[in-house]
Amino acid sequence: MDPVRNPYAPGAGQRPPELAGRDRELQVFDVVLERVARGRPERSLVLTGLRGVGKTVLLNTLRSQAINRLWGTGKIEARPDQSLRRPVAAALHMAIRELAPHHRAPDRIDEFLGVLKAFGSRIPAAKLKDRWQPGIDVPAAVGRADSGDIEIDLVELFTDAASVATDVGTGVALFIDEMQDCAPDDISALCAACHELSQTGAPLIVVGAGLPHLPALLSASKSYSERLFRYQRIDRLDRIAADLALCAPASREEVEYESKALDALYEASGGYPYFVQAYGKATWDHAPRSPITSADVLVAAPEAEAELAVGFFGSRFERATPAEREYMRTMATLSNGDDMSESVSTAEIARELGRKPASLSPARDALIKKGLIYSGERGTVAFTVPHFGRYLRSQPAGD
Ligand SMILES: Nc1ncnc2c1ncn2[C@@H]1O[C@H](COP(=O)(O)OP(=O)(O)O)[C@@H](O)[C@H]1O
Ligand SMILES: [Mg+2]
Repeated sequence: MDPVRNPYAPGAGQRPPELAGRDRELQVFDVVLERVARGRPERSLVLTGLRGVGKTVLLNTLRSQAINRLWGTGKIEARPDQSLRRPVAAALHMAIRELAPHHRAPDRIDEFLGVLKAFGSRIPAAKLKDRWQPGIDVPAAVGRADSGDIEIDLVELFTDAASVATDVGTGVALFIDEMQDCAPDDISALCAACHELSQTGAPLIVVGAGLPHLPALLSASKSYSERLFRYQRIDRLDRIAADLALCAPASREEVEYESKALDALYEASGGYPYFVQAYGKATWDHAPRSPITSADVLVAAPEAEAELAVGFFGSRFERATPAEREYMRTMATLSNGDDMSESVSTAEIARELGRKPASLSPARDALIKKGLIYSGERGTVAFTVPHFGRYLRSQPAGD
């Protein structure tokens, strides 16, 4: 059918034509926003899940929800080896710009901008390669959020941002994607700041998203983090939601699916949102007419798989060194037949490779840092990418 009208959107962070199966998360967030704006005790939110389940897209939707309630919002994507200071400063700058039009006292805004500037400028001299150009015209404040200790400074910055939001009767939400990539000091400072603010009922929340081991990272950093965050596991779509993700956009184009076609698509995608979009897109392009049949799905599947092999799996595999690839191939062999998200014991990997477990730690740690695998439980590892084991087993050996 007409590829121009193809509604599906495979791709990291691509807004899907229908956000299926996330009603509960959206409702919960509405309640959180309402409670926080009224100064009720509420926890910050953390979304966790494998790659391609729709965390980024959900985070963006929650942000729109906050904006609709006239909250100030900002978003950052954490990166390994990058301090949070400047990204947080930029995100809160954005949040305050959203609040400013509703605020009656411009000098309160300027006062905050001065603190923001002080916060963002305070980075270790060694890292001061480029000058910070925040586009803030007021002079940097002195004695607030500028101690150089990220934990102290973040508490002061968040407190002041929340106080501006209190003036206008809303709140501030800071969205952090790929939160597992935050440096340990930054994670710990974020926890401390959220802890402090939740005690005073100040209207600022952090909404994080990250890989499944993020809760473990947070509790390793601060033991109270379990009580601080509400964790929401974002998972594959159930059959009803996956069908809706395919059928709702199609019906807006007056296209239908035979029920056998939907069976075949669910079988192929396993309900993983990224795969739902990828198979949906290829099938649409191959189907000659509506209704789409299971034969159309069969013809289109190899093309969807070829695109996933390059864009979703291959691009990640290429980030690994030969030793790391061998490690992942062994994981794939050992997880054969099981559910693809199942974890594998590191001792078993060592045995399979005829190596001492300790000699494999560098490969394992590097793969975790690259975000290709994670360790949900001690002594086990799993792929962060669904169906990755299946993909590796289908590849010829060698690099
Ligand atoms: N609820 C959903 N319904 C349908 N498609 C979705 C949904 N959530 C995400 N997608 C699709 O899945 C893909 C991956 O989404 P993304 O947010 O990048 O995942 P993650 O951040 O978890 O890796 C995108 O193509 C997006 O359009
Ligand atoms: Mg993402």
